[in-house]
Amino acid sequence: MGKSFAVIGDPIDHSLSPNIHSAAFRELDLDSSYIAFRIPKGELAGGLEGLKKIKIDGFNVTIPHKIEMMKYLDRIDESCSVIGAVNTVSNKEGIFKGYNTDMDGFLEPFKEKKLNIANTKVLLLGAGGAARAIVAGFAKEKAGSVTIANRTLENAKSLSEFSKKVGLNSNAIKIEDVNDSAKDYDIIVNATSVGLRNEPSPISLDGINEKTIVYDIVYMPMNTDFIKKAKDNDSIVIFGYEMLLGQAVRSFEIWHNMEAPYNAMKKALLGGF
Ligand SMILES: NC(=O)c1ccc[n+]([C@@H]2O[C@H](COP(=O)([O-])OP(=O)(O)OC[C@H]3O[C@@H](n4cnc5c(N)ncnc54)[C@H](OP(=O)(O)O)[C@@H]3O)[C@@H](O)[C@H]2O)c1
Repeated sequence: MGKSFAVIGDPIDHSLSPNIHSAAFRELDLDSSYIAFRIPKGELAGGLEGLKKIKIDGFNVTIPHKIEMMKYLDRIDESCSVIGAVNTVSNKEGIFKGYNTDMDGFLEPFKEKKLNIANTKVLLLGAGGAARAIVAGFAKEKAGSVTIANRTLENAKSLSEFSKKVGLNSNAIKIEDVNDSAKDYDIIVNATSVGLRNEPSPISLDGINEKTIVYDIVYMPMNTDFIKKAKDNDSIVIFGYEMLLGQAVRSFEIWHNMEAPYNAMKKALLGGF
């Protein structure tokens, strides 16, 4: 029997995940399907019952359910318990096991491009769910320190506490206090949602150079103002779609227990822009 997969969230109609996974199924001739399934906030329990009834084999979880989904899991992978949020679920005979592939997805482009993280000085903009997975990733790769800059200082402080708990030196500041300090960092990551609506870069990137790694996790549009400013300074750029691709590849491998067809998935993803 064919296998079925989904992504749940709200809004969900613009999700690129069905395209990416369907391309992988075609490439490997797998009898599987992947759909986008809208579950509004507050309706997660009912939506999950529906998925169990149709014997879904696995699903991705996105905004607004990544944290709430934790309480519906029967088993929790370590990737998920550390971060406290889930984006990938496998279903084996009604047993839901949760994983978080955002961290591996975030790190994947560094590996692909052979960019070093160990002992670097990191500036992380944002302190939401994605930023938490990113902090866990930098801790795993032994970054030297991370400065967390966020609109709401309280949220930056609490992420900074988490960072210290997972062994990564950290401090918290307000995003407007970054001022002209971007040039003091080796890696700068935008993990706020600023850029999604074509807003200007959340900070000034004046003074950064060709050694600075600038990573925007916002993937739509591809060329945010933040990315454009990094390119103007000849910096090394990592696009949000690269993280999206990385997490999709990892989800694929969890569900299918085989290597994902990276290039076919990348082609499908880029075709979505
Ligand atoms: N490429 C990928 O694979 C990937 C994966 C996950 C997420 N993302 C993207 O990453 C972004 C963040 O996702 P998330 O799940 O972490 O969301 P979230 O938990 O809602 O966090 C949003 C973050 O953005 C900040 N923010 C929102 N509006 C802002 C504004 N106008 N000015 C300054 N800061 C603002 C928030 O600051 P406050 O704390 O002050 O509210 C918070 O730090 C989204 O755009 C999402 O699409 C991409």
